[in-house]
Amino acid sequence: MGERFETKTVHIGHEPLRQVTSKSTPIYQTSVFAFQGLEEVEQFYTGHGEYLYTRNGNPNQTELANAITKLEQAEDGVSAASGMGAIMAGVLAVVKPGDHILASHEIYGGTYALLDKELSRLGIELECINLNELTSLDGHIRPNTRLFYMETITNPLLTVADMPGWVQQAKQAGLTVMIDNTFATPYLVQPLTLGADLVVHSATKYIGGHSDATAGVLVGKKELVQRAREIVVNYGASLSPFEAWITSRGLKTLALRMERQCDNAREVAAFLREHPAVGRVYYPSEADVHFFARKKQGAMLSFCLADESRIYDFYRKLDWIKFAPSLAGVETSVSHPVTTSHRAFSEEQRLASGITMGLVRLSVGIEAVEDIVAELDRALS
Ligand SMILES: Cc1ncc(COP(=O)(O)O)c(C=O)c1O
Repeated sequence: MGERFETKTVHIGHEPLRQVTSKSTPIYQTSVFAFQGLEEVEQFYTGHGEYLYTRNGNPNQTELANAITKLEQAEDGVSAASGMGAIMAGVLAVVKPGDHILASHEIYGGTYALLDKELSRLGIELECINLNELTSLDGHIRPNTRLFYMETITNPLLTVADMPGWVQQAKQAGLTVMIDNTFATPYLVQPLTLGADLVVHSATKYIGGHSDATAGVLVGKKELVQRAREIVVNYGASLSPFEAWITSRGLKTLALRMERQCDNAREVAAFLREHPAVGRVYYPSEADVHFFARKKQGAMLSFCLADESRIYDFYRKLDWIKFAPSLAGVETSVSHPVTTSHRAFSEEQRLASGITMGLVRLSVGIEAVEDIVAELDRALS
């Protein structure tokens, strides 16, 4: 090490602690990795070394991707800077210009914006179909259709389509199947075991669980994930080490949180159904989730106010339940799809999908359910 003060301040604290075995994973907050010599860097490029530059890979990204790979029973996985980054990488790993995507018409507004607005510029066509009305994909599959895309539990109307049936039809037609499993999580269902090829998560939601990180993960068939990994690197959509670390930490309590949140949501749904100020309640039935590994109906629900004109009043009256256009944190929160997540939809699309001004989306947290009910009752009355 150099002897001068200026040199020492730069290098003195940097002793790699190779012998230390910490109980929790350290944050590898580094943009690049150092090498012993040219031979070692050569090993990276010939596929024998793991880390070179954080955009290409980092131990914290790997930790998160590996965990979801195992929980979803996948062959491989890659993390990304957001759920949208993971969706983009997964979709582009499958389609090329001239191809056609068949997607459920009930998808997250951001996903629709990506598939419709951005991918159309690359010459990729999109057709959205109503899985609640159709029984068959016949008549919708074209010679250039490559990808079938749907959500396990849809955002924001919580519809659970017969995923095993749709996956089977799409696979028989030779399509690649990609499922957004954000709302269900692998705790409730693992779509790859039902025949899907790729599963994507906005890990910003239940995987992280604390509304403090933005992250995405894509898992599935090895060759597709390998291509998606290249796309994440080349498009610069890699996850930061800190975001990966805090998301992995949140993941440890996924089972506990889901169990509690699902049980709370069930009681809240029963309460809302009886409330005179509430119209329709959107919440999956037990029959809907027949193919789930755990017979829980998720922790999200939506409802319409009986009198739509009271919508501003409702949000104003809420006290500790926050209006936040995201979901799945440990705190109960509400969102308003028309003005937030589903802005990308035209009015016609929104109305066709039942996304009205009076629709409230509720993400049920881990609090005492009696308090959640009392707070909603106050704002509704
Ligand atoms: C179902 C679903 N998929 C994907 C996304 C996008 O995830 P992110 O915001 O992490 O990019 C969201 C975001 O709300 C979502 O609800």
